[in-house]
Amino acid sequence: MLHKDNTSDADDNNNHNKIKQLEKSVRILQKRLERSEADRKVLEKASEIKELLLKSVIRELEESQALSEKRGQELETALQNLKALQMKLIESEKMSALGVLVAGIAHEINNPVNFIYGNLYYANNYFKSILNLINLYEYYYPEPVAEIQQEIETIELDFIKQDLQSLFESMNTGAERIFEIVKSLRIFSRLDEADFKTADIHLGIDSTLSILNHRLKPSANVTQGIQVIRNFGTLPAMECYPGQLNQVFLNIIVNAIDALEDAVIKNPQLLPTISITTELVNEQAVIRIADNGLGISEKAQSQLFTPFFTTKDIGKGTGLGLSISYQIIVELHAGILEYYSKPGSGAEFVIIIPVQQTKR
Ligand SMILES: Nc1ncnc2c1ncn2[C@@H]1O[C@H](COP(=O)(O)OP(=O)(O)OP(=O)(O)O)[C@@H](O)[C@H]1O
Ligand SMILES: [Mg+2]
Repeated sequence: MLHKDNTSDADDNNNHNKIKQLEKSVRILQKRLERSEADRKVLEKASEIKELLLKSVIRELEESQALSEKRGQELETALQNLKALQMKLIESEKMSALGVLVAGIAHEINNPVNFIYGNLYYANNYFKSILNLINLYEYYYPEPVAEIQQEIETIELDFIKQDLQSLFESMNTGAERIFEIVKSLRIFSRLDEADFKTADIHLGIDSTLSILNHRLKPSANVTQGIQVIRNFGTLPAMECYPGQLNQVFLNIIVNAIDALEDAVIKNPQLLPTISITTELVNEQAVIRIADNGLGISEKAQSQLFTPFFTTKDIGKGTGLGLSISYQIIVELHAGILEYYSKPGSGAEFVIIIPVQQTKR
């Protein structure tokens, strides 16, 4: 029979208690662990929420920053547009003031030139009559008294007889030229801002060329002069703002002259030429103004109609000519203004405008 002694009983008891103690500690630890696990989850959740919140705040901040950048850009563009508009207004104000001035001068010159031109005809006739009379005297009195003979030699009567006729002819040509210029000035400065008028576009182009004659004829810059080839088709009377169209012709032809002057410096052998062609296509007038200058660089082409874009020296170009022309053709006349240019071989500007304007 098995029997335990007292000491081993006590040991067993002791061990049993220890185990119980350990089990209790394990349970407590387990509980703590469970609790801290729950705490960790709560904390994790809270930090997730905080992170989401932070992200949405950052997103909102970024959005509002982008928005204010966009607003800033819009403001910048609006300011640029305003500046451009202001310059255009000043320019068109200047042009209309110039128009009034030119029209006034043309009117003032018209009267005196009429006197000269009108009286030249009579002066020439009187001269012929007097010449006739002198010839008659010479025929019937071939031996004048010494004093008259002396006077005939002093004034060189024979030369006067020859020269006076050509003198009258050149005075006549000069007066006719002044007439042409006055007519061109009047056509050019038509003060017709109020409404569309019907006008002859060819007359407008010719008056513009006449005004620019001093830059086309041989000069120190272009010793050979610039030749203009006019290739006019048949165009009906056009419904347009004639004064404004003349301004477009002026801008484009002046640009061509500037380009040709530069080209001649690079190539003195060049025969600088501007050709102006007009034709009627599908009830639209097509006007082409081409030059054989240096053409437009690719870099310049993308900005040609932008206000203030210029490649010319300060004081020579404001960079408004083409942007104003674009506005006049496209916005005012519902037309098209385009250009073709291969750098190195000239430029061509094409204006297309309808013969009749639809009421807008
Ligand atoms: N026929 C052309 N050949 C070469 N470049 C041209 C020609 N026409 C225009 N350009 C270019 O386009 C630019 C802009 O022309 P735009 O007429 O608008 O201004 P600008 O002539 O420089 O100055 P502004 O006309 O105000 O006096 C010119 O500076 C020039 O570089
Ligand atoms: Mg110009």
